[in-house]
Amino acid sequence: MSAVEADLKAYLAAQEKKSFLRFLTCGSVDDGKSTLIGRLLYDTKLLFEDQLAALEKDSKKHGTTGDDIDFALLVDGLEAEREQGITIDVAYRFFATDKRKFIVADTPGHEQYTRNMATGASNSDLAVILIDARKGVLTQTRRHAYIVSLLGIRHVVLAVNKIDLVDFSETVFRTIVAAFESFAKPLGFASITPIPLSARFGDNVIAKSAQMPWFEGPALLPYLETIDVSTALADKPFRMPVQWVNRPNLDFRGFAGTIVSGRVRPGDVVVVAKSGRTSSVTRIVTMDGDVTEAVAGEAVTITLADEIDISRGDVIAAASARPEVTDQFAAHLIWMADEEMLPGRPYMLKLGTATVPAQITDLKYKTDVNTLAHNAGKTLHLNEVGYANLSLTQPLAFDAYRENRDMGGFVLIDRFSNATVGAGMIDFGLRRATNVHWQALDVAKSSRAGLKGQRPVILWFTGLSGSGKSTVANLVERALFAEGKHTYMLDGDNVRHGLNRDLGFTDADRVENIRRVAEAAKLFVDAGTIVLVSFISPFRSERRMARELVEPGEFIEIFVDTPIEVCMQRDPKGLYQKAMAGEIKNFTGIDSPYEAPEHPELTINTAEAEPASHAAAIVAYLKEAGYV
Ligand code: ADX
Repeated sequence: MSAVEADLKAYLAAQEKKSFLRFLTCGSVDDGKSTLIGRLLYDTKLLFEDQLAALEKDSKKHGTTGDDIDFALLVDGLEAEREQGITIDVAYRFFATDKRKFIVADTPGHEQYTRNMATGASNSDLAVILIDARKGVLTQTRRHAYIVSLLGIRHVVLAVNKIDLVDFSETVFRTIVAAFESFAKPLGFASITPIPLSARFGDNVIAKSAQMPWFEGPALLPYLETIDVSTALADKPFRMPVQWVNRPNLDFRGFAGTIVSGRVRPGDVVVVAKSGRTSSVTRIVTMDGDVTEAVAGEAVTITLADEIDISRGDVIAAASARPEVTDQFAAHLIWMADEEMLPGRPYMLKLGTATVPAQITDLKYKTDVNTLAHNAGKTLHLNEVGYANLSLTQPLAFDAYRENRDMGGFVLIDRFSNATVGAGMIDFGLRRATNVHWQALDVAKSSRAGLKGQRPVILWFTGLSGSGKSTVANLVERALFAEGKHTYMLDGDNVRHGLNRDLGFTDADRVENIRRVAEAAKLFVDAGTIVLVSFISPFRSERRMARELVEPGEFIEIFVDTPIEVCMQRDPKGLYQKAMAGEIKNFTGIDSPYEAPEHPELTINTAEAEPASHAAAIVAYLKEAGYV
């Protein structure tokens, strides 16, 4: 090995050993956030010559600092941002000193970017909250502090920037710190470290400034280099979400995953959280062979003494300190999608390695992120924060987010677009979920249906108002009834007079309307009945939910595809006319969407044939398929 190679090896080894600090910066456009990060990068000499040359050139073109270098330009990477002079999206930057390695997430300060801030914060250990010394604690400072606390960041640096512009005044600094501390008290941070600094001139950034002899605390970088942020994850109960089951041959069956908390040794008694089956660890296999102990953060494969059923999404945990298992819990939610959150709509919930369908059953309140006030609300819009109950289609193992971010943090995913629409932090499991069990019944669905001489099924009619859904459904029911079949009809207009009397026509209310009628239809199927459902049911998500509530073959989607022009001309209740005149809001097809089915079992168009012939065709379909 050459001397250079040896040097390099030593250098890399030293880098490896250094601890990592992930931190988040938050502040608004003018607080000097980008300048501060630029200053850190510049003063830690991590800028390359060519970047510096480009920076000097850019500073002359766009800069706001005269002939000095504008550090903000270094950080505000996107051209569009520079032109507007604001920061959008999250930028991650890496730098290192002799003592530590850093990843800084630079997130924008505006309220509409709460989403980005949440993204940047989700794996940060510390937040640097910037304040302009001339302005003091602002509404947005409070918002940043709240979101930072919500995301489980325990350590805060209060960077009182532009202290040079208030003559390095101790009084100004103390007043700001007092205001922040009194506000932040209920947020429960483990540490709040105030530092007066000037990002532009470097005071108290890398080293203590001679301008503020009154300040006894540390400069920013030395503080970041030394603060202990360890959450002692290794000392918490053992948790390993299973990523995959490794079965190369019949003699080996291992469970691979990353340990998110605690430690494990061969001989430890563990439990598969959901099934409650226990076993003991026989081997811990890693890339470097078997080990006698593995701790939080390590990716390992574990083998167990017993053949028990485990698959991806399961959590292997310490048998003596088990995670909670429930299908309902309360959580804080941050909404991240342009489309509003709709209670009752099925989303996919991803927690650790598990993914299950979930619904928001009840939005308890929305939090005004500027005042922390709790307001009533039915939905959340982009960047809004709320507290809600969620219900899953199957139980999940979790810990409260404040105990364990990996075991209590989740995202919600839209089932059609696959986009992440929200992030959540579990507060606690709901008892009622664990205390209510299924009552076993002796008379089964098949017996009930057999007695009636039919196969139960939902005939789901969907289409615009006036398309002829109820007319055709009514004829189908009459024909089946005449043949001695047991039927029931759930019609939108009728159900809205009773069970769904409290619902209107917003998207959120329609989702709930369909959720309830789908659950009701399922009960009729269980009773062995043929149930006809005639609702506009404009959204694919909810029709799919209804389909998935019952068994395969028990749901027949009938798309009444009558053109809107024909529906408008018929206008049996005069509603289209009113909607066109603006007297009714959210009218389907006018100012509220209708999502046509993609794969309906049957499609009919009542403008092309008489309702009676459509009804006859549907009855023929049922006979052919063996329902009646
Ligand atoms: S759904 O969209 O939630 O499925 P549903 O089928 O229950 O609607 O109710 C639709 C009926 O309510 C229509 O046939 C019409 O008579 C009436 N109605 C009143 N206001 C509206 C509206 N804004 N949009 C659609 N239908 C409306």
